[in-house]
Amino acid sequence: MKRGRTVVIVGAQWGDEGKGKVVDVLTPHVNVVVRYQGGNNAGHTVVVGKEKYVLHSIPSGILHSGCRCVIGCGVVIDPAAVIEEMETLVRRGVTLDGNLFISKNAHLIMPYHPALDRASEAKLGARRIGTTGKGVGPAYIDKAARVGIRMADLLDERLFRDKLEANIAQKNRILSEIYDAQTFTVEAILNPYMRYAGWLAPYITDTPLLLSKWMESGYSVLFEGAQGTMLDIDHGTYPYITSSSTTSGGAATGTGVPPTRIHGVLGVAKAYTTRVGGGPFPTEMKGEMAETIRERGDEYGATTGRPRRCGWFGAVVLRYAARINGLDTVAITKLDVLDGCETVKICTGYRYRGDLLTDFPEEETILKEAEPVYEDVEGWMAPTSHAKHEGDLPAKARRYLERLEELIGVPLCLVSTGAVRDETIVCDDSPLLRWFPSVRSSLI
Ligand code: IMP
Repeated sequence: MKRGRTVVIVGAQWGDEGKGKVVDVLTPHVNVVVRYQGGNNAGHTVVVGKEKYVLHSIPSGILHSGCRCVIGCGVVIDPAAVIEEMETLVRRGVTLDGNLFISKNAHLIMPYHPALDRASEAKLGARRIGTTGKGVGPAYIDKAARVGIRMADLLDERLFRDKLEANIAQKNRILSEIYDAQTFTVEAILNPYMRYAGWLAPYITDTPLLLSKWMESGYSVLFEGAQGTMLDIDHGTYPYITSSSTTSGGAATGTGVPPTRIHGVLGVAKAYTTRVGGGPFPTEMKGEMAETIRERGDEYGATTGRPRRCGWFGAVVLRYAARINGLDTVAITKLDVLDGCETVKICTGYRYRGDLLTDFPEEETILKEAEPVYEDVEGWMAPTSHAKHEGDLPAKARRYLERLEELIGVPLCLVSTGAVRDETIVCDDSPLLRWFPSVRSSLI
């Protein structure tokens, strides 16, 4: 039997690491790309030639003709938003029919979910999470509370109406009595959602079965994580997290592909760090440096346009991500953003009440007080975007990457030095070349 490769791509920081580009670079070497968690809170930016695409719910593999894309059961779907994304892709010449498959078990984001998201954030005041306001958290709340509405329900009007009525009765009380917010009617939701059902029906299917058959016949699969390890519901900086399993374990539960069928995990990290929304961020930069990195890196949210908080590279975070995800290899993105820095800092540990912590602390209170301990690396002060091989990089940039690799304890596989596909260096001797031996030749 032909053996395909199945590899999970995860964000190793707080999201926005450049996973979209890494998936885009690897897609020509696989047959299928699967999203396994999150919703349209994600924004995966891919630049193809002069064209820029921002994808929110649909896997970025869709930009490659012939690549099949799956939205797995672990994803929450806002049908209006996904249809808008589909229409935009079709207008730009992308073929969806026969390439896009949506799990019957994926939960729907309903109009009351963004309303509850915003109302809850407003009530939290200073302790607000800084969510994207897309209703992702409330949709996962309903899933866990066993009152959620799934894609399959959309195809059965009677069942959909029953579930909607029960939800509206409950949500309206929460909205009016707890939040003093606007309520919803069944009819105002039923009609548009039945229209969406007509649109989406051809794409809704039993995706675990499909994936299993494809894998049996030797297809290679990429699992495209959204957000990042530090936003994981269990392993992230709770409660300042998103409401899904962003780490590699989520790839199994969120798709129905068993862990025994997954061959490897690739983590993506920026050469520095960003975070959007509230919550602890020990290596956050202050003042002018943060502004400089934000402007050079165009660090504004792809979904909300919010300025991202910027910080230095956290090796402690990466070691934690390596452990939680079982990272086999790491792709470093946006190295070019640091090209003009005289000194580059790497956080190697935290000082907490006189102790040096080298493992990422899970306690909210410790994280709040932890002071980063930095190692300074001399900046390379030269452009990196032209480099095709590691050897083309300035020696000091190479030294920076080697130090990151040493501190993370996992080999690097890719270094991205710009937004477009071929601004990518493939490193020697990484597991990536074992999984997809032709990656290097496809980029040169
Ligand atoms: P939610 O996912 O909208 O509930 O937001 C929860 C937290 O996750 C907030 O801090 C968001 O800024 C953050 N978040 C959600 N999606 C992304 C993403 O794609 N990139 C970076 N941060 C995100």
